[in-house]
Amino acid sequence: MTDRRRFLKASVLGMSSPILAWAGKLTATTSARMPATSTARVVSTWDFGVAANQAAWAILGKGGHALDAVEAGARVPESDLKNHSVGKGGYPDRDGHVTLDASIMDADGSCGAVAAIEHIEHPISVARLVMERTPHVLLVGEGALQFALEQGFKQQNLLTPDAEKAWHEWQKTAHYQPSINSEVRDYGNPGRPGGANNHDTIGMLAIDAHGRMSGACTTSGMAWKMRGRVGDSPIIGAGLYVDGEVGGATSTGVGEEVIRNAGSFLVVELMRQGRSPHEACKEAVMRIVNKRREASKTIQVGFLAMNRAGEVGAYAIQHGFSYAVCDAKKQDALIPSQSVYTTSYS
Ligand code: GLY
Repeated sequence: MTDRRRFLKASVLGMSSPILAWAGKLTATTSARMPATSTARVVSTWDFGVAANQAAWAILGKGGHALDAVEAGARVPESDLKNHSVGKGGYPDRDGHVTLDASIMDADGSCGAVAAIEHIEHPISVARLVMERTPHVLLVGEGALQFALEQGFKQQNLLTPDAEKAWHEWQKTAHYQPSINSEVRDYGNPGRPGGANNHDTIGMLAIDAHGRMSGACTTSGMAWKMRGRVGDSPIIGAGLYVDGEVGGATSTGVGEEVIRNAGSFLVVELMRQGRSPHEACKEAVMRIVNKRREASKTIQVGFLAMNRAGEVGAYAIQHGFSYAVCDAKKQDALIPSQSVYTTSYS
């Protein structure tokens, strides 16, 4: 059993009884209704979402704005040097450059993003300033870096010794070939070197006490990717989408598949048509699986959604996806997502 799966099991089993009942409802129907008096909630992808949620909750719990909460939350894995799929410490591209993607979106459609930005620890905060201080939505590469420096961000080396070592290991056998579909095992343990699918994104969605919804998404993308490769995370409608009238969605996994299907936009539109968050995530996943039958067996994509009522849902292609939920009742819930394939690879 991988460390991740042990942790998942322990986390779910360790829940106090009300939250266990609530989590049971989430895993059974993958949706939950909050009492009207307790609207604030933040959800995030993967187990590293627990710590991110807690940083977000420090703002939400005091009545703060959902946008501030998701930015603060996303900054936690961006600074976590042990997290090799987000921010500083992320695995580099096949040429050894750490390039980061991030996006942020507010309930009214305001949004900002950066793609393939280098040398900046907190791309999510640069994305927010793209939204707030420019007439644009997306800045990339050198231009994104230039903007960040103009805004006072500090330039630094994001390639940590651990990540550099893993890159050199990869170079021994990979023959400079980026790949997507060759390995699913490492999905039990995101960030583990070796497998092609060793990337995971943090996507966050929050509703604050005033009912305002915002989302954020940030990643170092696929390890050993081609130079210049950009995934779904900074693409509004792919890795992240929020519509205050409906809800929000975010994604993790192989960004190319999410982009091809405008994944997060699709989930939100399905919720608009009346699907629950769980049903919408499942339908979006099945859209990918049905188009990519054989390939889908060896790739991971997961969606996480929350509607404006605070109902939460998720669905993934592969077993092992989890999401963290935090609200006034419990700050460290970690829920296993349902998936198309249930095989355990560990
Ligand atoms: N989902 C993150 C990426 O593909 O880069």
